[in-house]
Amino acid sequence: MGTKKNFLPGTVGLAPMAGVTDYPFRKICFELGAKFAFTEMISAKSVLLNISVNEKYFPKEDEKHLVGVQLFGSDPFELAQAAALVEGRGLWVDLNAGCPVAKVVKRGAGSALLKDIEHFRKVVREMRRVVKRLSVKTRIGWEKDEFEKIYDALVSEGVDIIFVHGRTAKQMYSGKAKWDIYNPGIVPLYISGDIYTVDDIKRAMELSGADGVIVARGAIGNPWIFSENRDSPSLDDKLRVILKHIDLLREEYGKHGVVEFRKFVAGYTKDMPHAREFRNKVMKITDVNDLKDAFVEYFTYISQHNRASV
Ligand SMILES: Cc1cc2nc3c(=O)[nH]c(=O)nc-3n(C[C@H](O)[C@H](O)[C@H](O)COP(=O)(O)O)c2cc1C
Repeated sequence: MGTKKNFLPGTVGLAPMAGVTDYPFRKICFELGAKFAFTEMISAKSVLLNISVNEKYFPKEDEKHLVGVQLFGSDPFELAQAAALVEGRGLWVDLNAGCPVAKVVKRGAGSALLKDIEHFRKVVREMRRVVKRLSVKTRIGWEKDEFEKIYDALVSEGVDIIFVHGRTAKQMYSGKAKWDIYNPGIVPLYISGDIYTVDDIKRAMELSGADGVIVARGAIGNPWIFSENRDSPSLDDKLRVILKHIDLLREEYGKHGVVEFRKFVAGYTKDMPHAREFRNKVMKITDVNDLKDAFVEYFTYISQHNRASV
């Protein structure tokens, strides 16, 4: 295993999530120990059309050495051309071969690539020709587990690293992600799926013999999963990170940052007392300072209440 070439700077990274893993969230995860991350998926076609909205997806200067640029598409030449254009924007280029969402699959992209392995190989081959560091993020198959075939195809096309979400595309998010997976150890393999605790990281790595894991949903509201040996922060730590996250969203999106933060509220307040009432209140807030004040007030109330009950 030690002889495999691996350009990733560590074992545990933040998985790509469209609409979630933007610059502010990546920054929070890096601060708490994530070793690498991905952009949200970017359409190869839009890169070739030079659509300016893509700028917001590309890694920023301070994180460029830690972030992979993920592309989705179906045409080998389009993807290769786009890959060549974005290569310099991040640490590496990743091909999305796992997204099961209808809008993407309908265009032959994401997990639809798994329906035709020969075509999939061609895509990877063309991308391989042009980029220095190439990974593929895949599922274990379209409707049945064919990971062995997928792995071997990707390796023979010269992919550097494989990320695998241990479900078929047809499963979407149902059932349990498979961690006990084909892994002959030819290239670095990173596991994705249902990793919610530090213990899950350990078990997924043991079962798969993988080189690392990437965490997606489990990082929403719990970026402490990236902190070694600790995934439950103190109230003070938690509040500090929440306030910082809100500030980063304000810097990135201005007033709209408040709305962007809403997708993290449930995660950050999971299992906390009176969380439901608090969430209902917070979801209506439209001003950044009011949002921060509401969190300070809530956390102060909880810490006083905790102290009172000791
Ligand atoms: C909201 C959301 C958006 C996602 N967007 C992407 C994406 O853009 N590219 C991708 O490869 N996977 C995407 N995924 C899949 C995740 O990277 C991950 O493989 C999957 O959620 C399983 O891991 P988890 O159980 O840790 O969430 C997304 C998942 C979620 C929940």
